[in-house]
Amino acid sequence: MTVESNETSTQIFKLNSSAIKKIAKILVHNDLDPRNLIQILQELQDEFHYLPEVIISYIAKELKISEHRIFGVATFYSQFKFIEPGEHIIRVCMGTACHVMGSQSLLDKLSRELKIISGETTKDGLFSLESVYCLGCCALAPVMIIDDAVFGNMTAAKVNRTLKKYRKQNAENSGRNKK
Ligand code: FES
Repeated sequence: MTVESNETSTQIFKLNSSAIKKIAKILVHNDLDPRNLIQILQELQDEFHYLPEVIISYIAKELKISEHRIFGVATFYSQFKFIEPGEHIIRVCMGTACHVMGSQSLLDKLSRELKIISGETTKDGLFSLESVYCLGCCALAPVMIIDDAVFGNMTAAKVNRTLKKYRKQNAENSGRNKK
């Protein structure tokens, strides 16, 4: 399936003095030692919610190692994210039970509706889409979760209704914040 991904979030991370201070603290806490790279990346992701390219370049210089080496390590572990996560994270289970019950068409439907593929964030920053393997509630297959809410026995038909609910909530919240 091909999905146009031109709606992907394009926000650029700003490496300002406050961010540099936070990064320096994490590096010093890890003795500026490249052997602590995984721990450093974990702490950076906890702090910034993802690993922007500018941060990778910055720590490469500070640790005196190549960006290539950092990306090599970071891409090996699925917990590291390189794109800013959306306000809501949608995870579709692609484990065996869910796959048998049609999770691929669920994922395809979400991709079409959100105009992103798994691993991307919508341009409005509202949703990120991820595929995961077994959420531990196979009896509800196919399953997707949005943030902490579990949606069992999902169908492509229920996708629109669910997204609409989240979009409505978001519009209401931003309306309230403007008042
Ligand atoms: S396979 Fe999907 S919840 Fe277990």
